[in-house]
Amino acid sequence: MELGHISDEEFDSHYPLRVQKVSGTQWTPISVVKKAIAYLGVDDEQSILDIGSGAGKFCLIAGSLGNSKVIGIEKNKSLVKLSQKLMDEFGLKNVNFIHGDIKDLDFSQFDHFYFFNAFEEHVNLDDQLDKELMMDPEYYQSMIDWINQKFDDAPKGTKIVTYCGDCREIPDSYSLVKSSNRGKLRFWVKRD
Ligand SMILES: C[S@@+](CC[C@H](N)C(=O)[O-])C[C@H]1O[C@@H](n2cnc3c(N)ncnc32)[C@H](O)[C@@H]1O
Repeated sequence: MELGHISDEEFDSHYPLRVQKVSGTQWTPISVVKKAIAYLGVDDEQSILDIGSGAGKFCLIAGSLGNSKVIGIEKNKSLVKLSQKLMDEFGLKNVNFIHGDIKDLDFSQFDHFYFFNAFEEHVNLDDQLDKELMMDPEYYQSMIDWINQKFDDAPKGTKIVTYCGDCREIPDSYSLVKSSNRGKLRFWVKRD
């Protein structure tokens, strides 16, 4: 089922109210998913990882717009279950969700990456899904450093789309190809 033509409100109505309520700040808008996936690639040779897939909105929309394999990893189990339920409902065979911590995943399985500010919750109270979480700038920095190294280890030609944030997770070995949405949406490629 192609989901690119529906509105954010219509898509979000598939979620329970508590998940709908945070859509504006936590889940990627459909217009942004369309731009991101057009850059990352839509053919079945590509696998794309959404780092911190939340309620699955990026993966579900992106997967419906082409044949690329779109995989999300998310640490919150109930959000993974919700994502999987919608994946079945929409009949998306090229989408998959993994429950776990990004730190346990082998990045070499994926060609390209989407990153929507997943670690911001450790430094910004307004950005917390998990209200029990404590502010932890040191942990935030360690995650940024860790993912920066993973991106740096990726082969030449790896593409990343970042949405929001200051992009400190992007190593110097990447070039900014273009940006959109007043600089909030950025398109990167690994040079060497
Ligand atoms: C801003 S939301 C983005 C959701 C999704 N990518 C989208 O665009 O619709 C970031 C998500 O990253 C998840 N997250 C944060 N740290 C994580 C980690 N270490 N491993 C897996 N998921 C993580 C959070 O639980 C949250 O659901």
